[in-house]
Amino acid sequence: MHREDFPMLENDIVYFDNGATTLKSKRVVDSMDKYYLEHTSNIHRGDYDSAVITNELYDGTRDVVSHFINCDSREVIFTSGTTMSINMVVFGFMKYYLTDKDEVLLTKSEHASNILPWIVLAEEIGFKIKYIDLDDNYELTLDNVKKSITDKTKVISIAHVTNVIGDVRDIKSIGEICKKKNIILNVDGAQSVPHMKVDFKDMNIDFLSFSGHKMGGPTGVGVLVGRYELLEKMKPLCYGGGMNNYFEDDNSYELKEIPTRFEAGTPAIAEVIGLRSAILYLEDIGIDNIHKHEMELKKYLVDKLEKIDNITIYNKNSNSGIIAFNVDGVFAQDTSVFLNHYKIAVRAGNHCAKELKDVIGIKNTVRVSMYLYNNKEDIDRLVEALKNNKEIFNVVL
Ligand code: ALA
Repeated sequence: MHREDFPMLENDIVYFDNGATTLKSKRVVDSMDKYYLEHTSNIHRGDYDSAVITNELYDGTRDVVSHFINCDSREVIFTSGTTMSINMVVFGFMKYYLTDKDEVLLTKSEHASNILPWIVLAEEIGFKIKYIDLDDNYELTLDNVKKSITDKTKVISIAHVTNVIGDVRDIKSIGEICKKKNIILNVDGAQSVPHMKVDFKDMNIDFLSFSGHKMGGPTGVGVLVGRYELLEKMKPLCYGGGMNNYFEDDNSYELKEIPTRFEAGTPAIAEVIGLRSAILYLEDIGIDNIHKHEMELKKYLVDKLEKIDNITIYNKNSNSGIIAFNVDGVFAQDTSVFLNHYKIAVRAGNHCAKELKDVIGIKNTVRVSMYLYNNKEDIDRLVEALKNNKEIFNVVL
């Protein structure tokens, strides 16, 4: 789909590392160029023409996000990415919310950015981190969520789609359970928001984080969406210009309204404008069409991979465009270096999900992650290369 919009694809490459970051369309880059070349100015400070244009684009992007994921515009905070968004939730909200009597539920397939901040805060406060069991397909079932909840559970913090297994969690049902039991649901949407419909309100999510660069937007910008009543209790992690109404020599001060109080200093203005273009672009294509396209490609790839003898696939059935596999007996990184020989970009390693090895029994995998511009020819090239996998050591060594 729409390959002509992505100049990098003119270079005869197969790009299958979309879980790490996505290619940028000309539309996104042009919108950022326009800001730099035609109306560079800071936000919330100037009364001149270019500043007015920039303000409208920057703050107007909150409306674009709010339409895309169904939340209120004032619940949209611009951050540097998913990692910063989750850290803001953990150290700006949970630090004041949790006690040493509480339990936080995670899973072992979470990305580092949704485990490590919790470990560090638990060290300080003493709450207990518990991991919800995964099933035989390394997926999260509703039953296992229910079984893990106790009277002490205060938070469930999980990815909507995990970045190695690519399983899609039933966030709406988990959200309903959380709402009934007064548990806060913190969702890492880095691998879902770019690929499928995410509805913040309908899914009863309390906090949702995602990144611009995984949805065709620029690096350095992401979003934290929080339920307004919770944002009222969250403290900024960063203080300075642009986020205060006043401060005096008697140490009194007043912060600006939400969400501005969470965006101290000059933000990533060009990147927010690029994010805006990226979201509008996805809306033009239709997020459901993107998901459907990825699922067709996934089926096409799995059917072909299964016909190659010595390949183990770890997540055949997951409902996203992520496939994790290994060539038997070959270190994952050797496979990815081999594929690079054919100009095919995949990611190999533990993918920052370092506790997943306890569940799947293997540390490293090769990951193919798809996006809207991938096509069957890309898959045919990958499969043809993998059929030659006996050659891996001749190529790599
Ligand atoms: N979180 C990104 C990935 O899964 C970097 O590759």
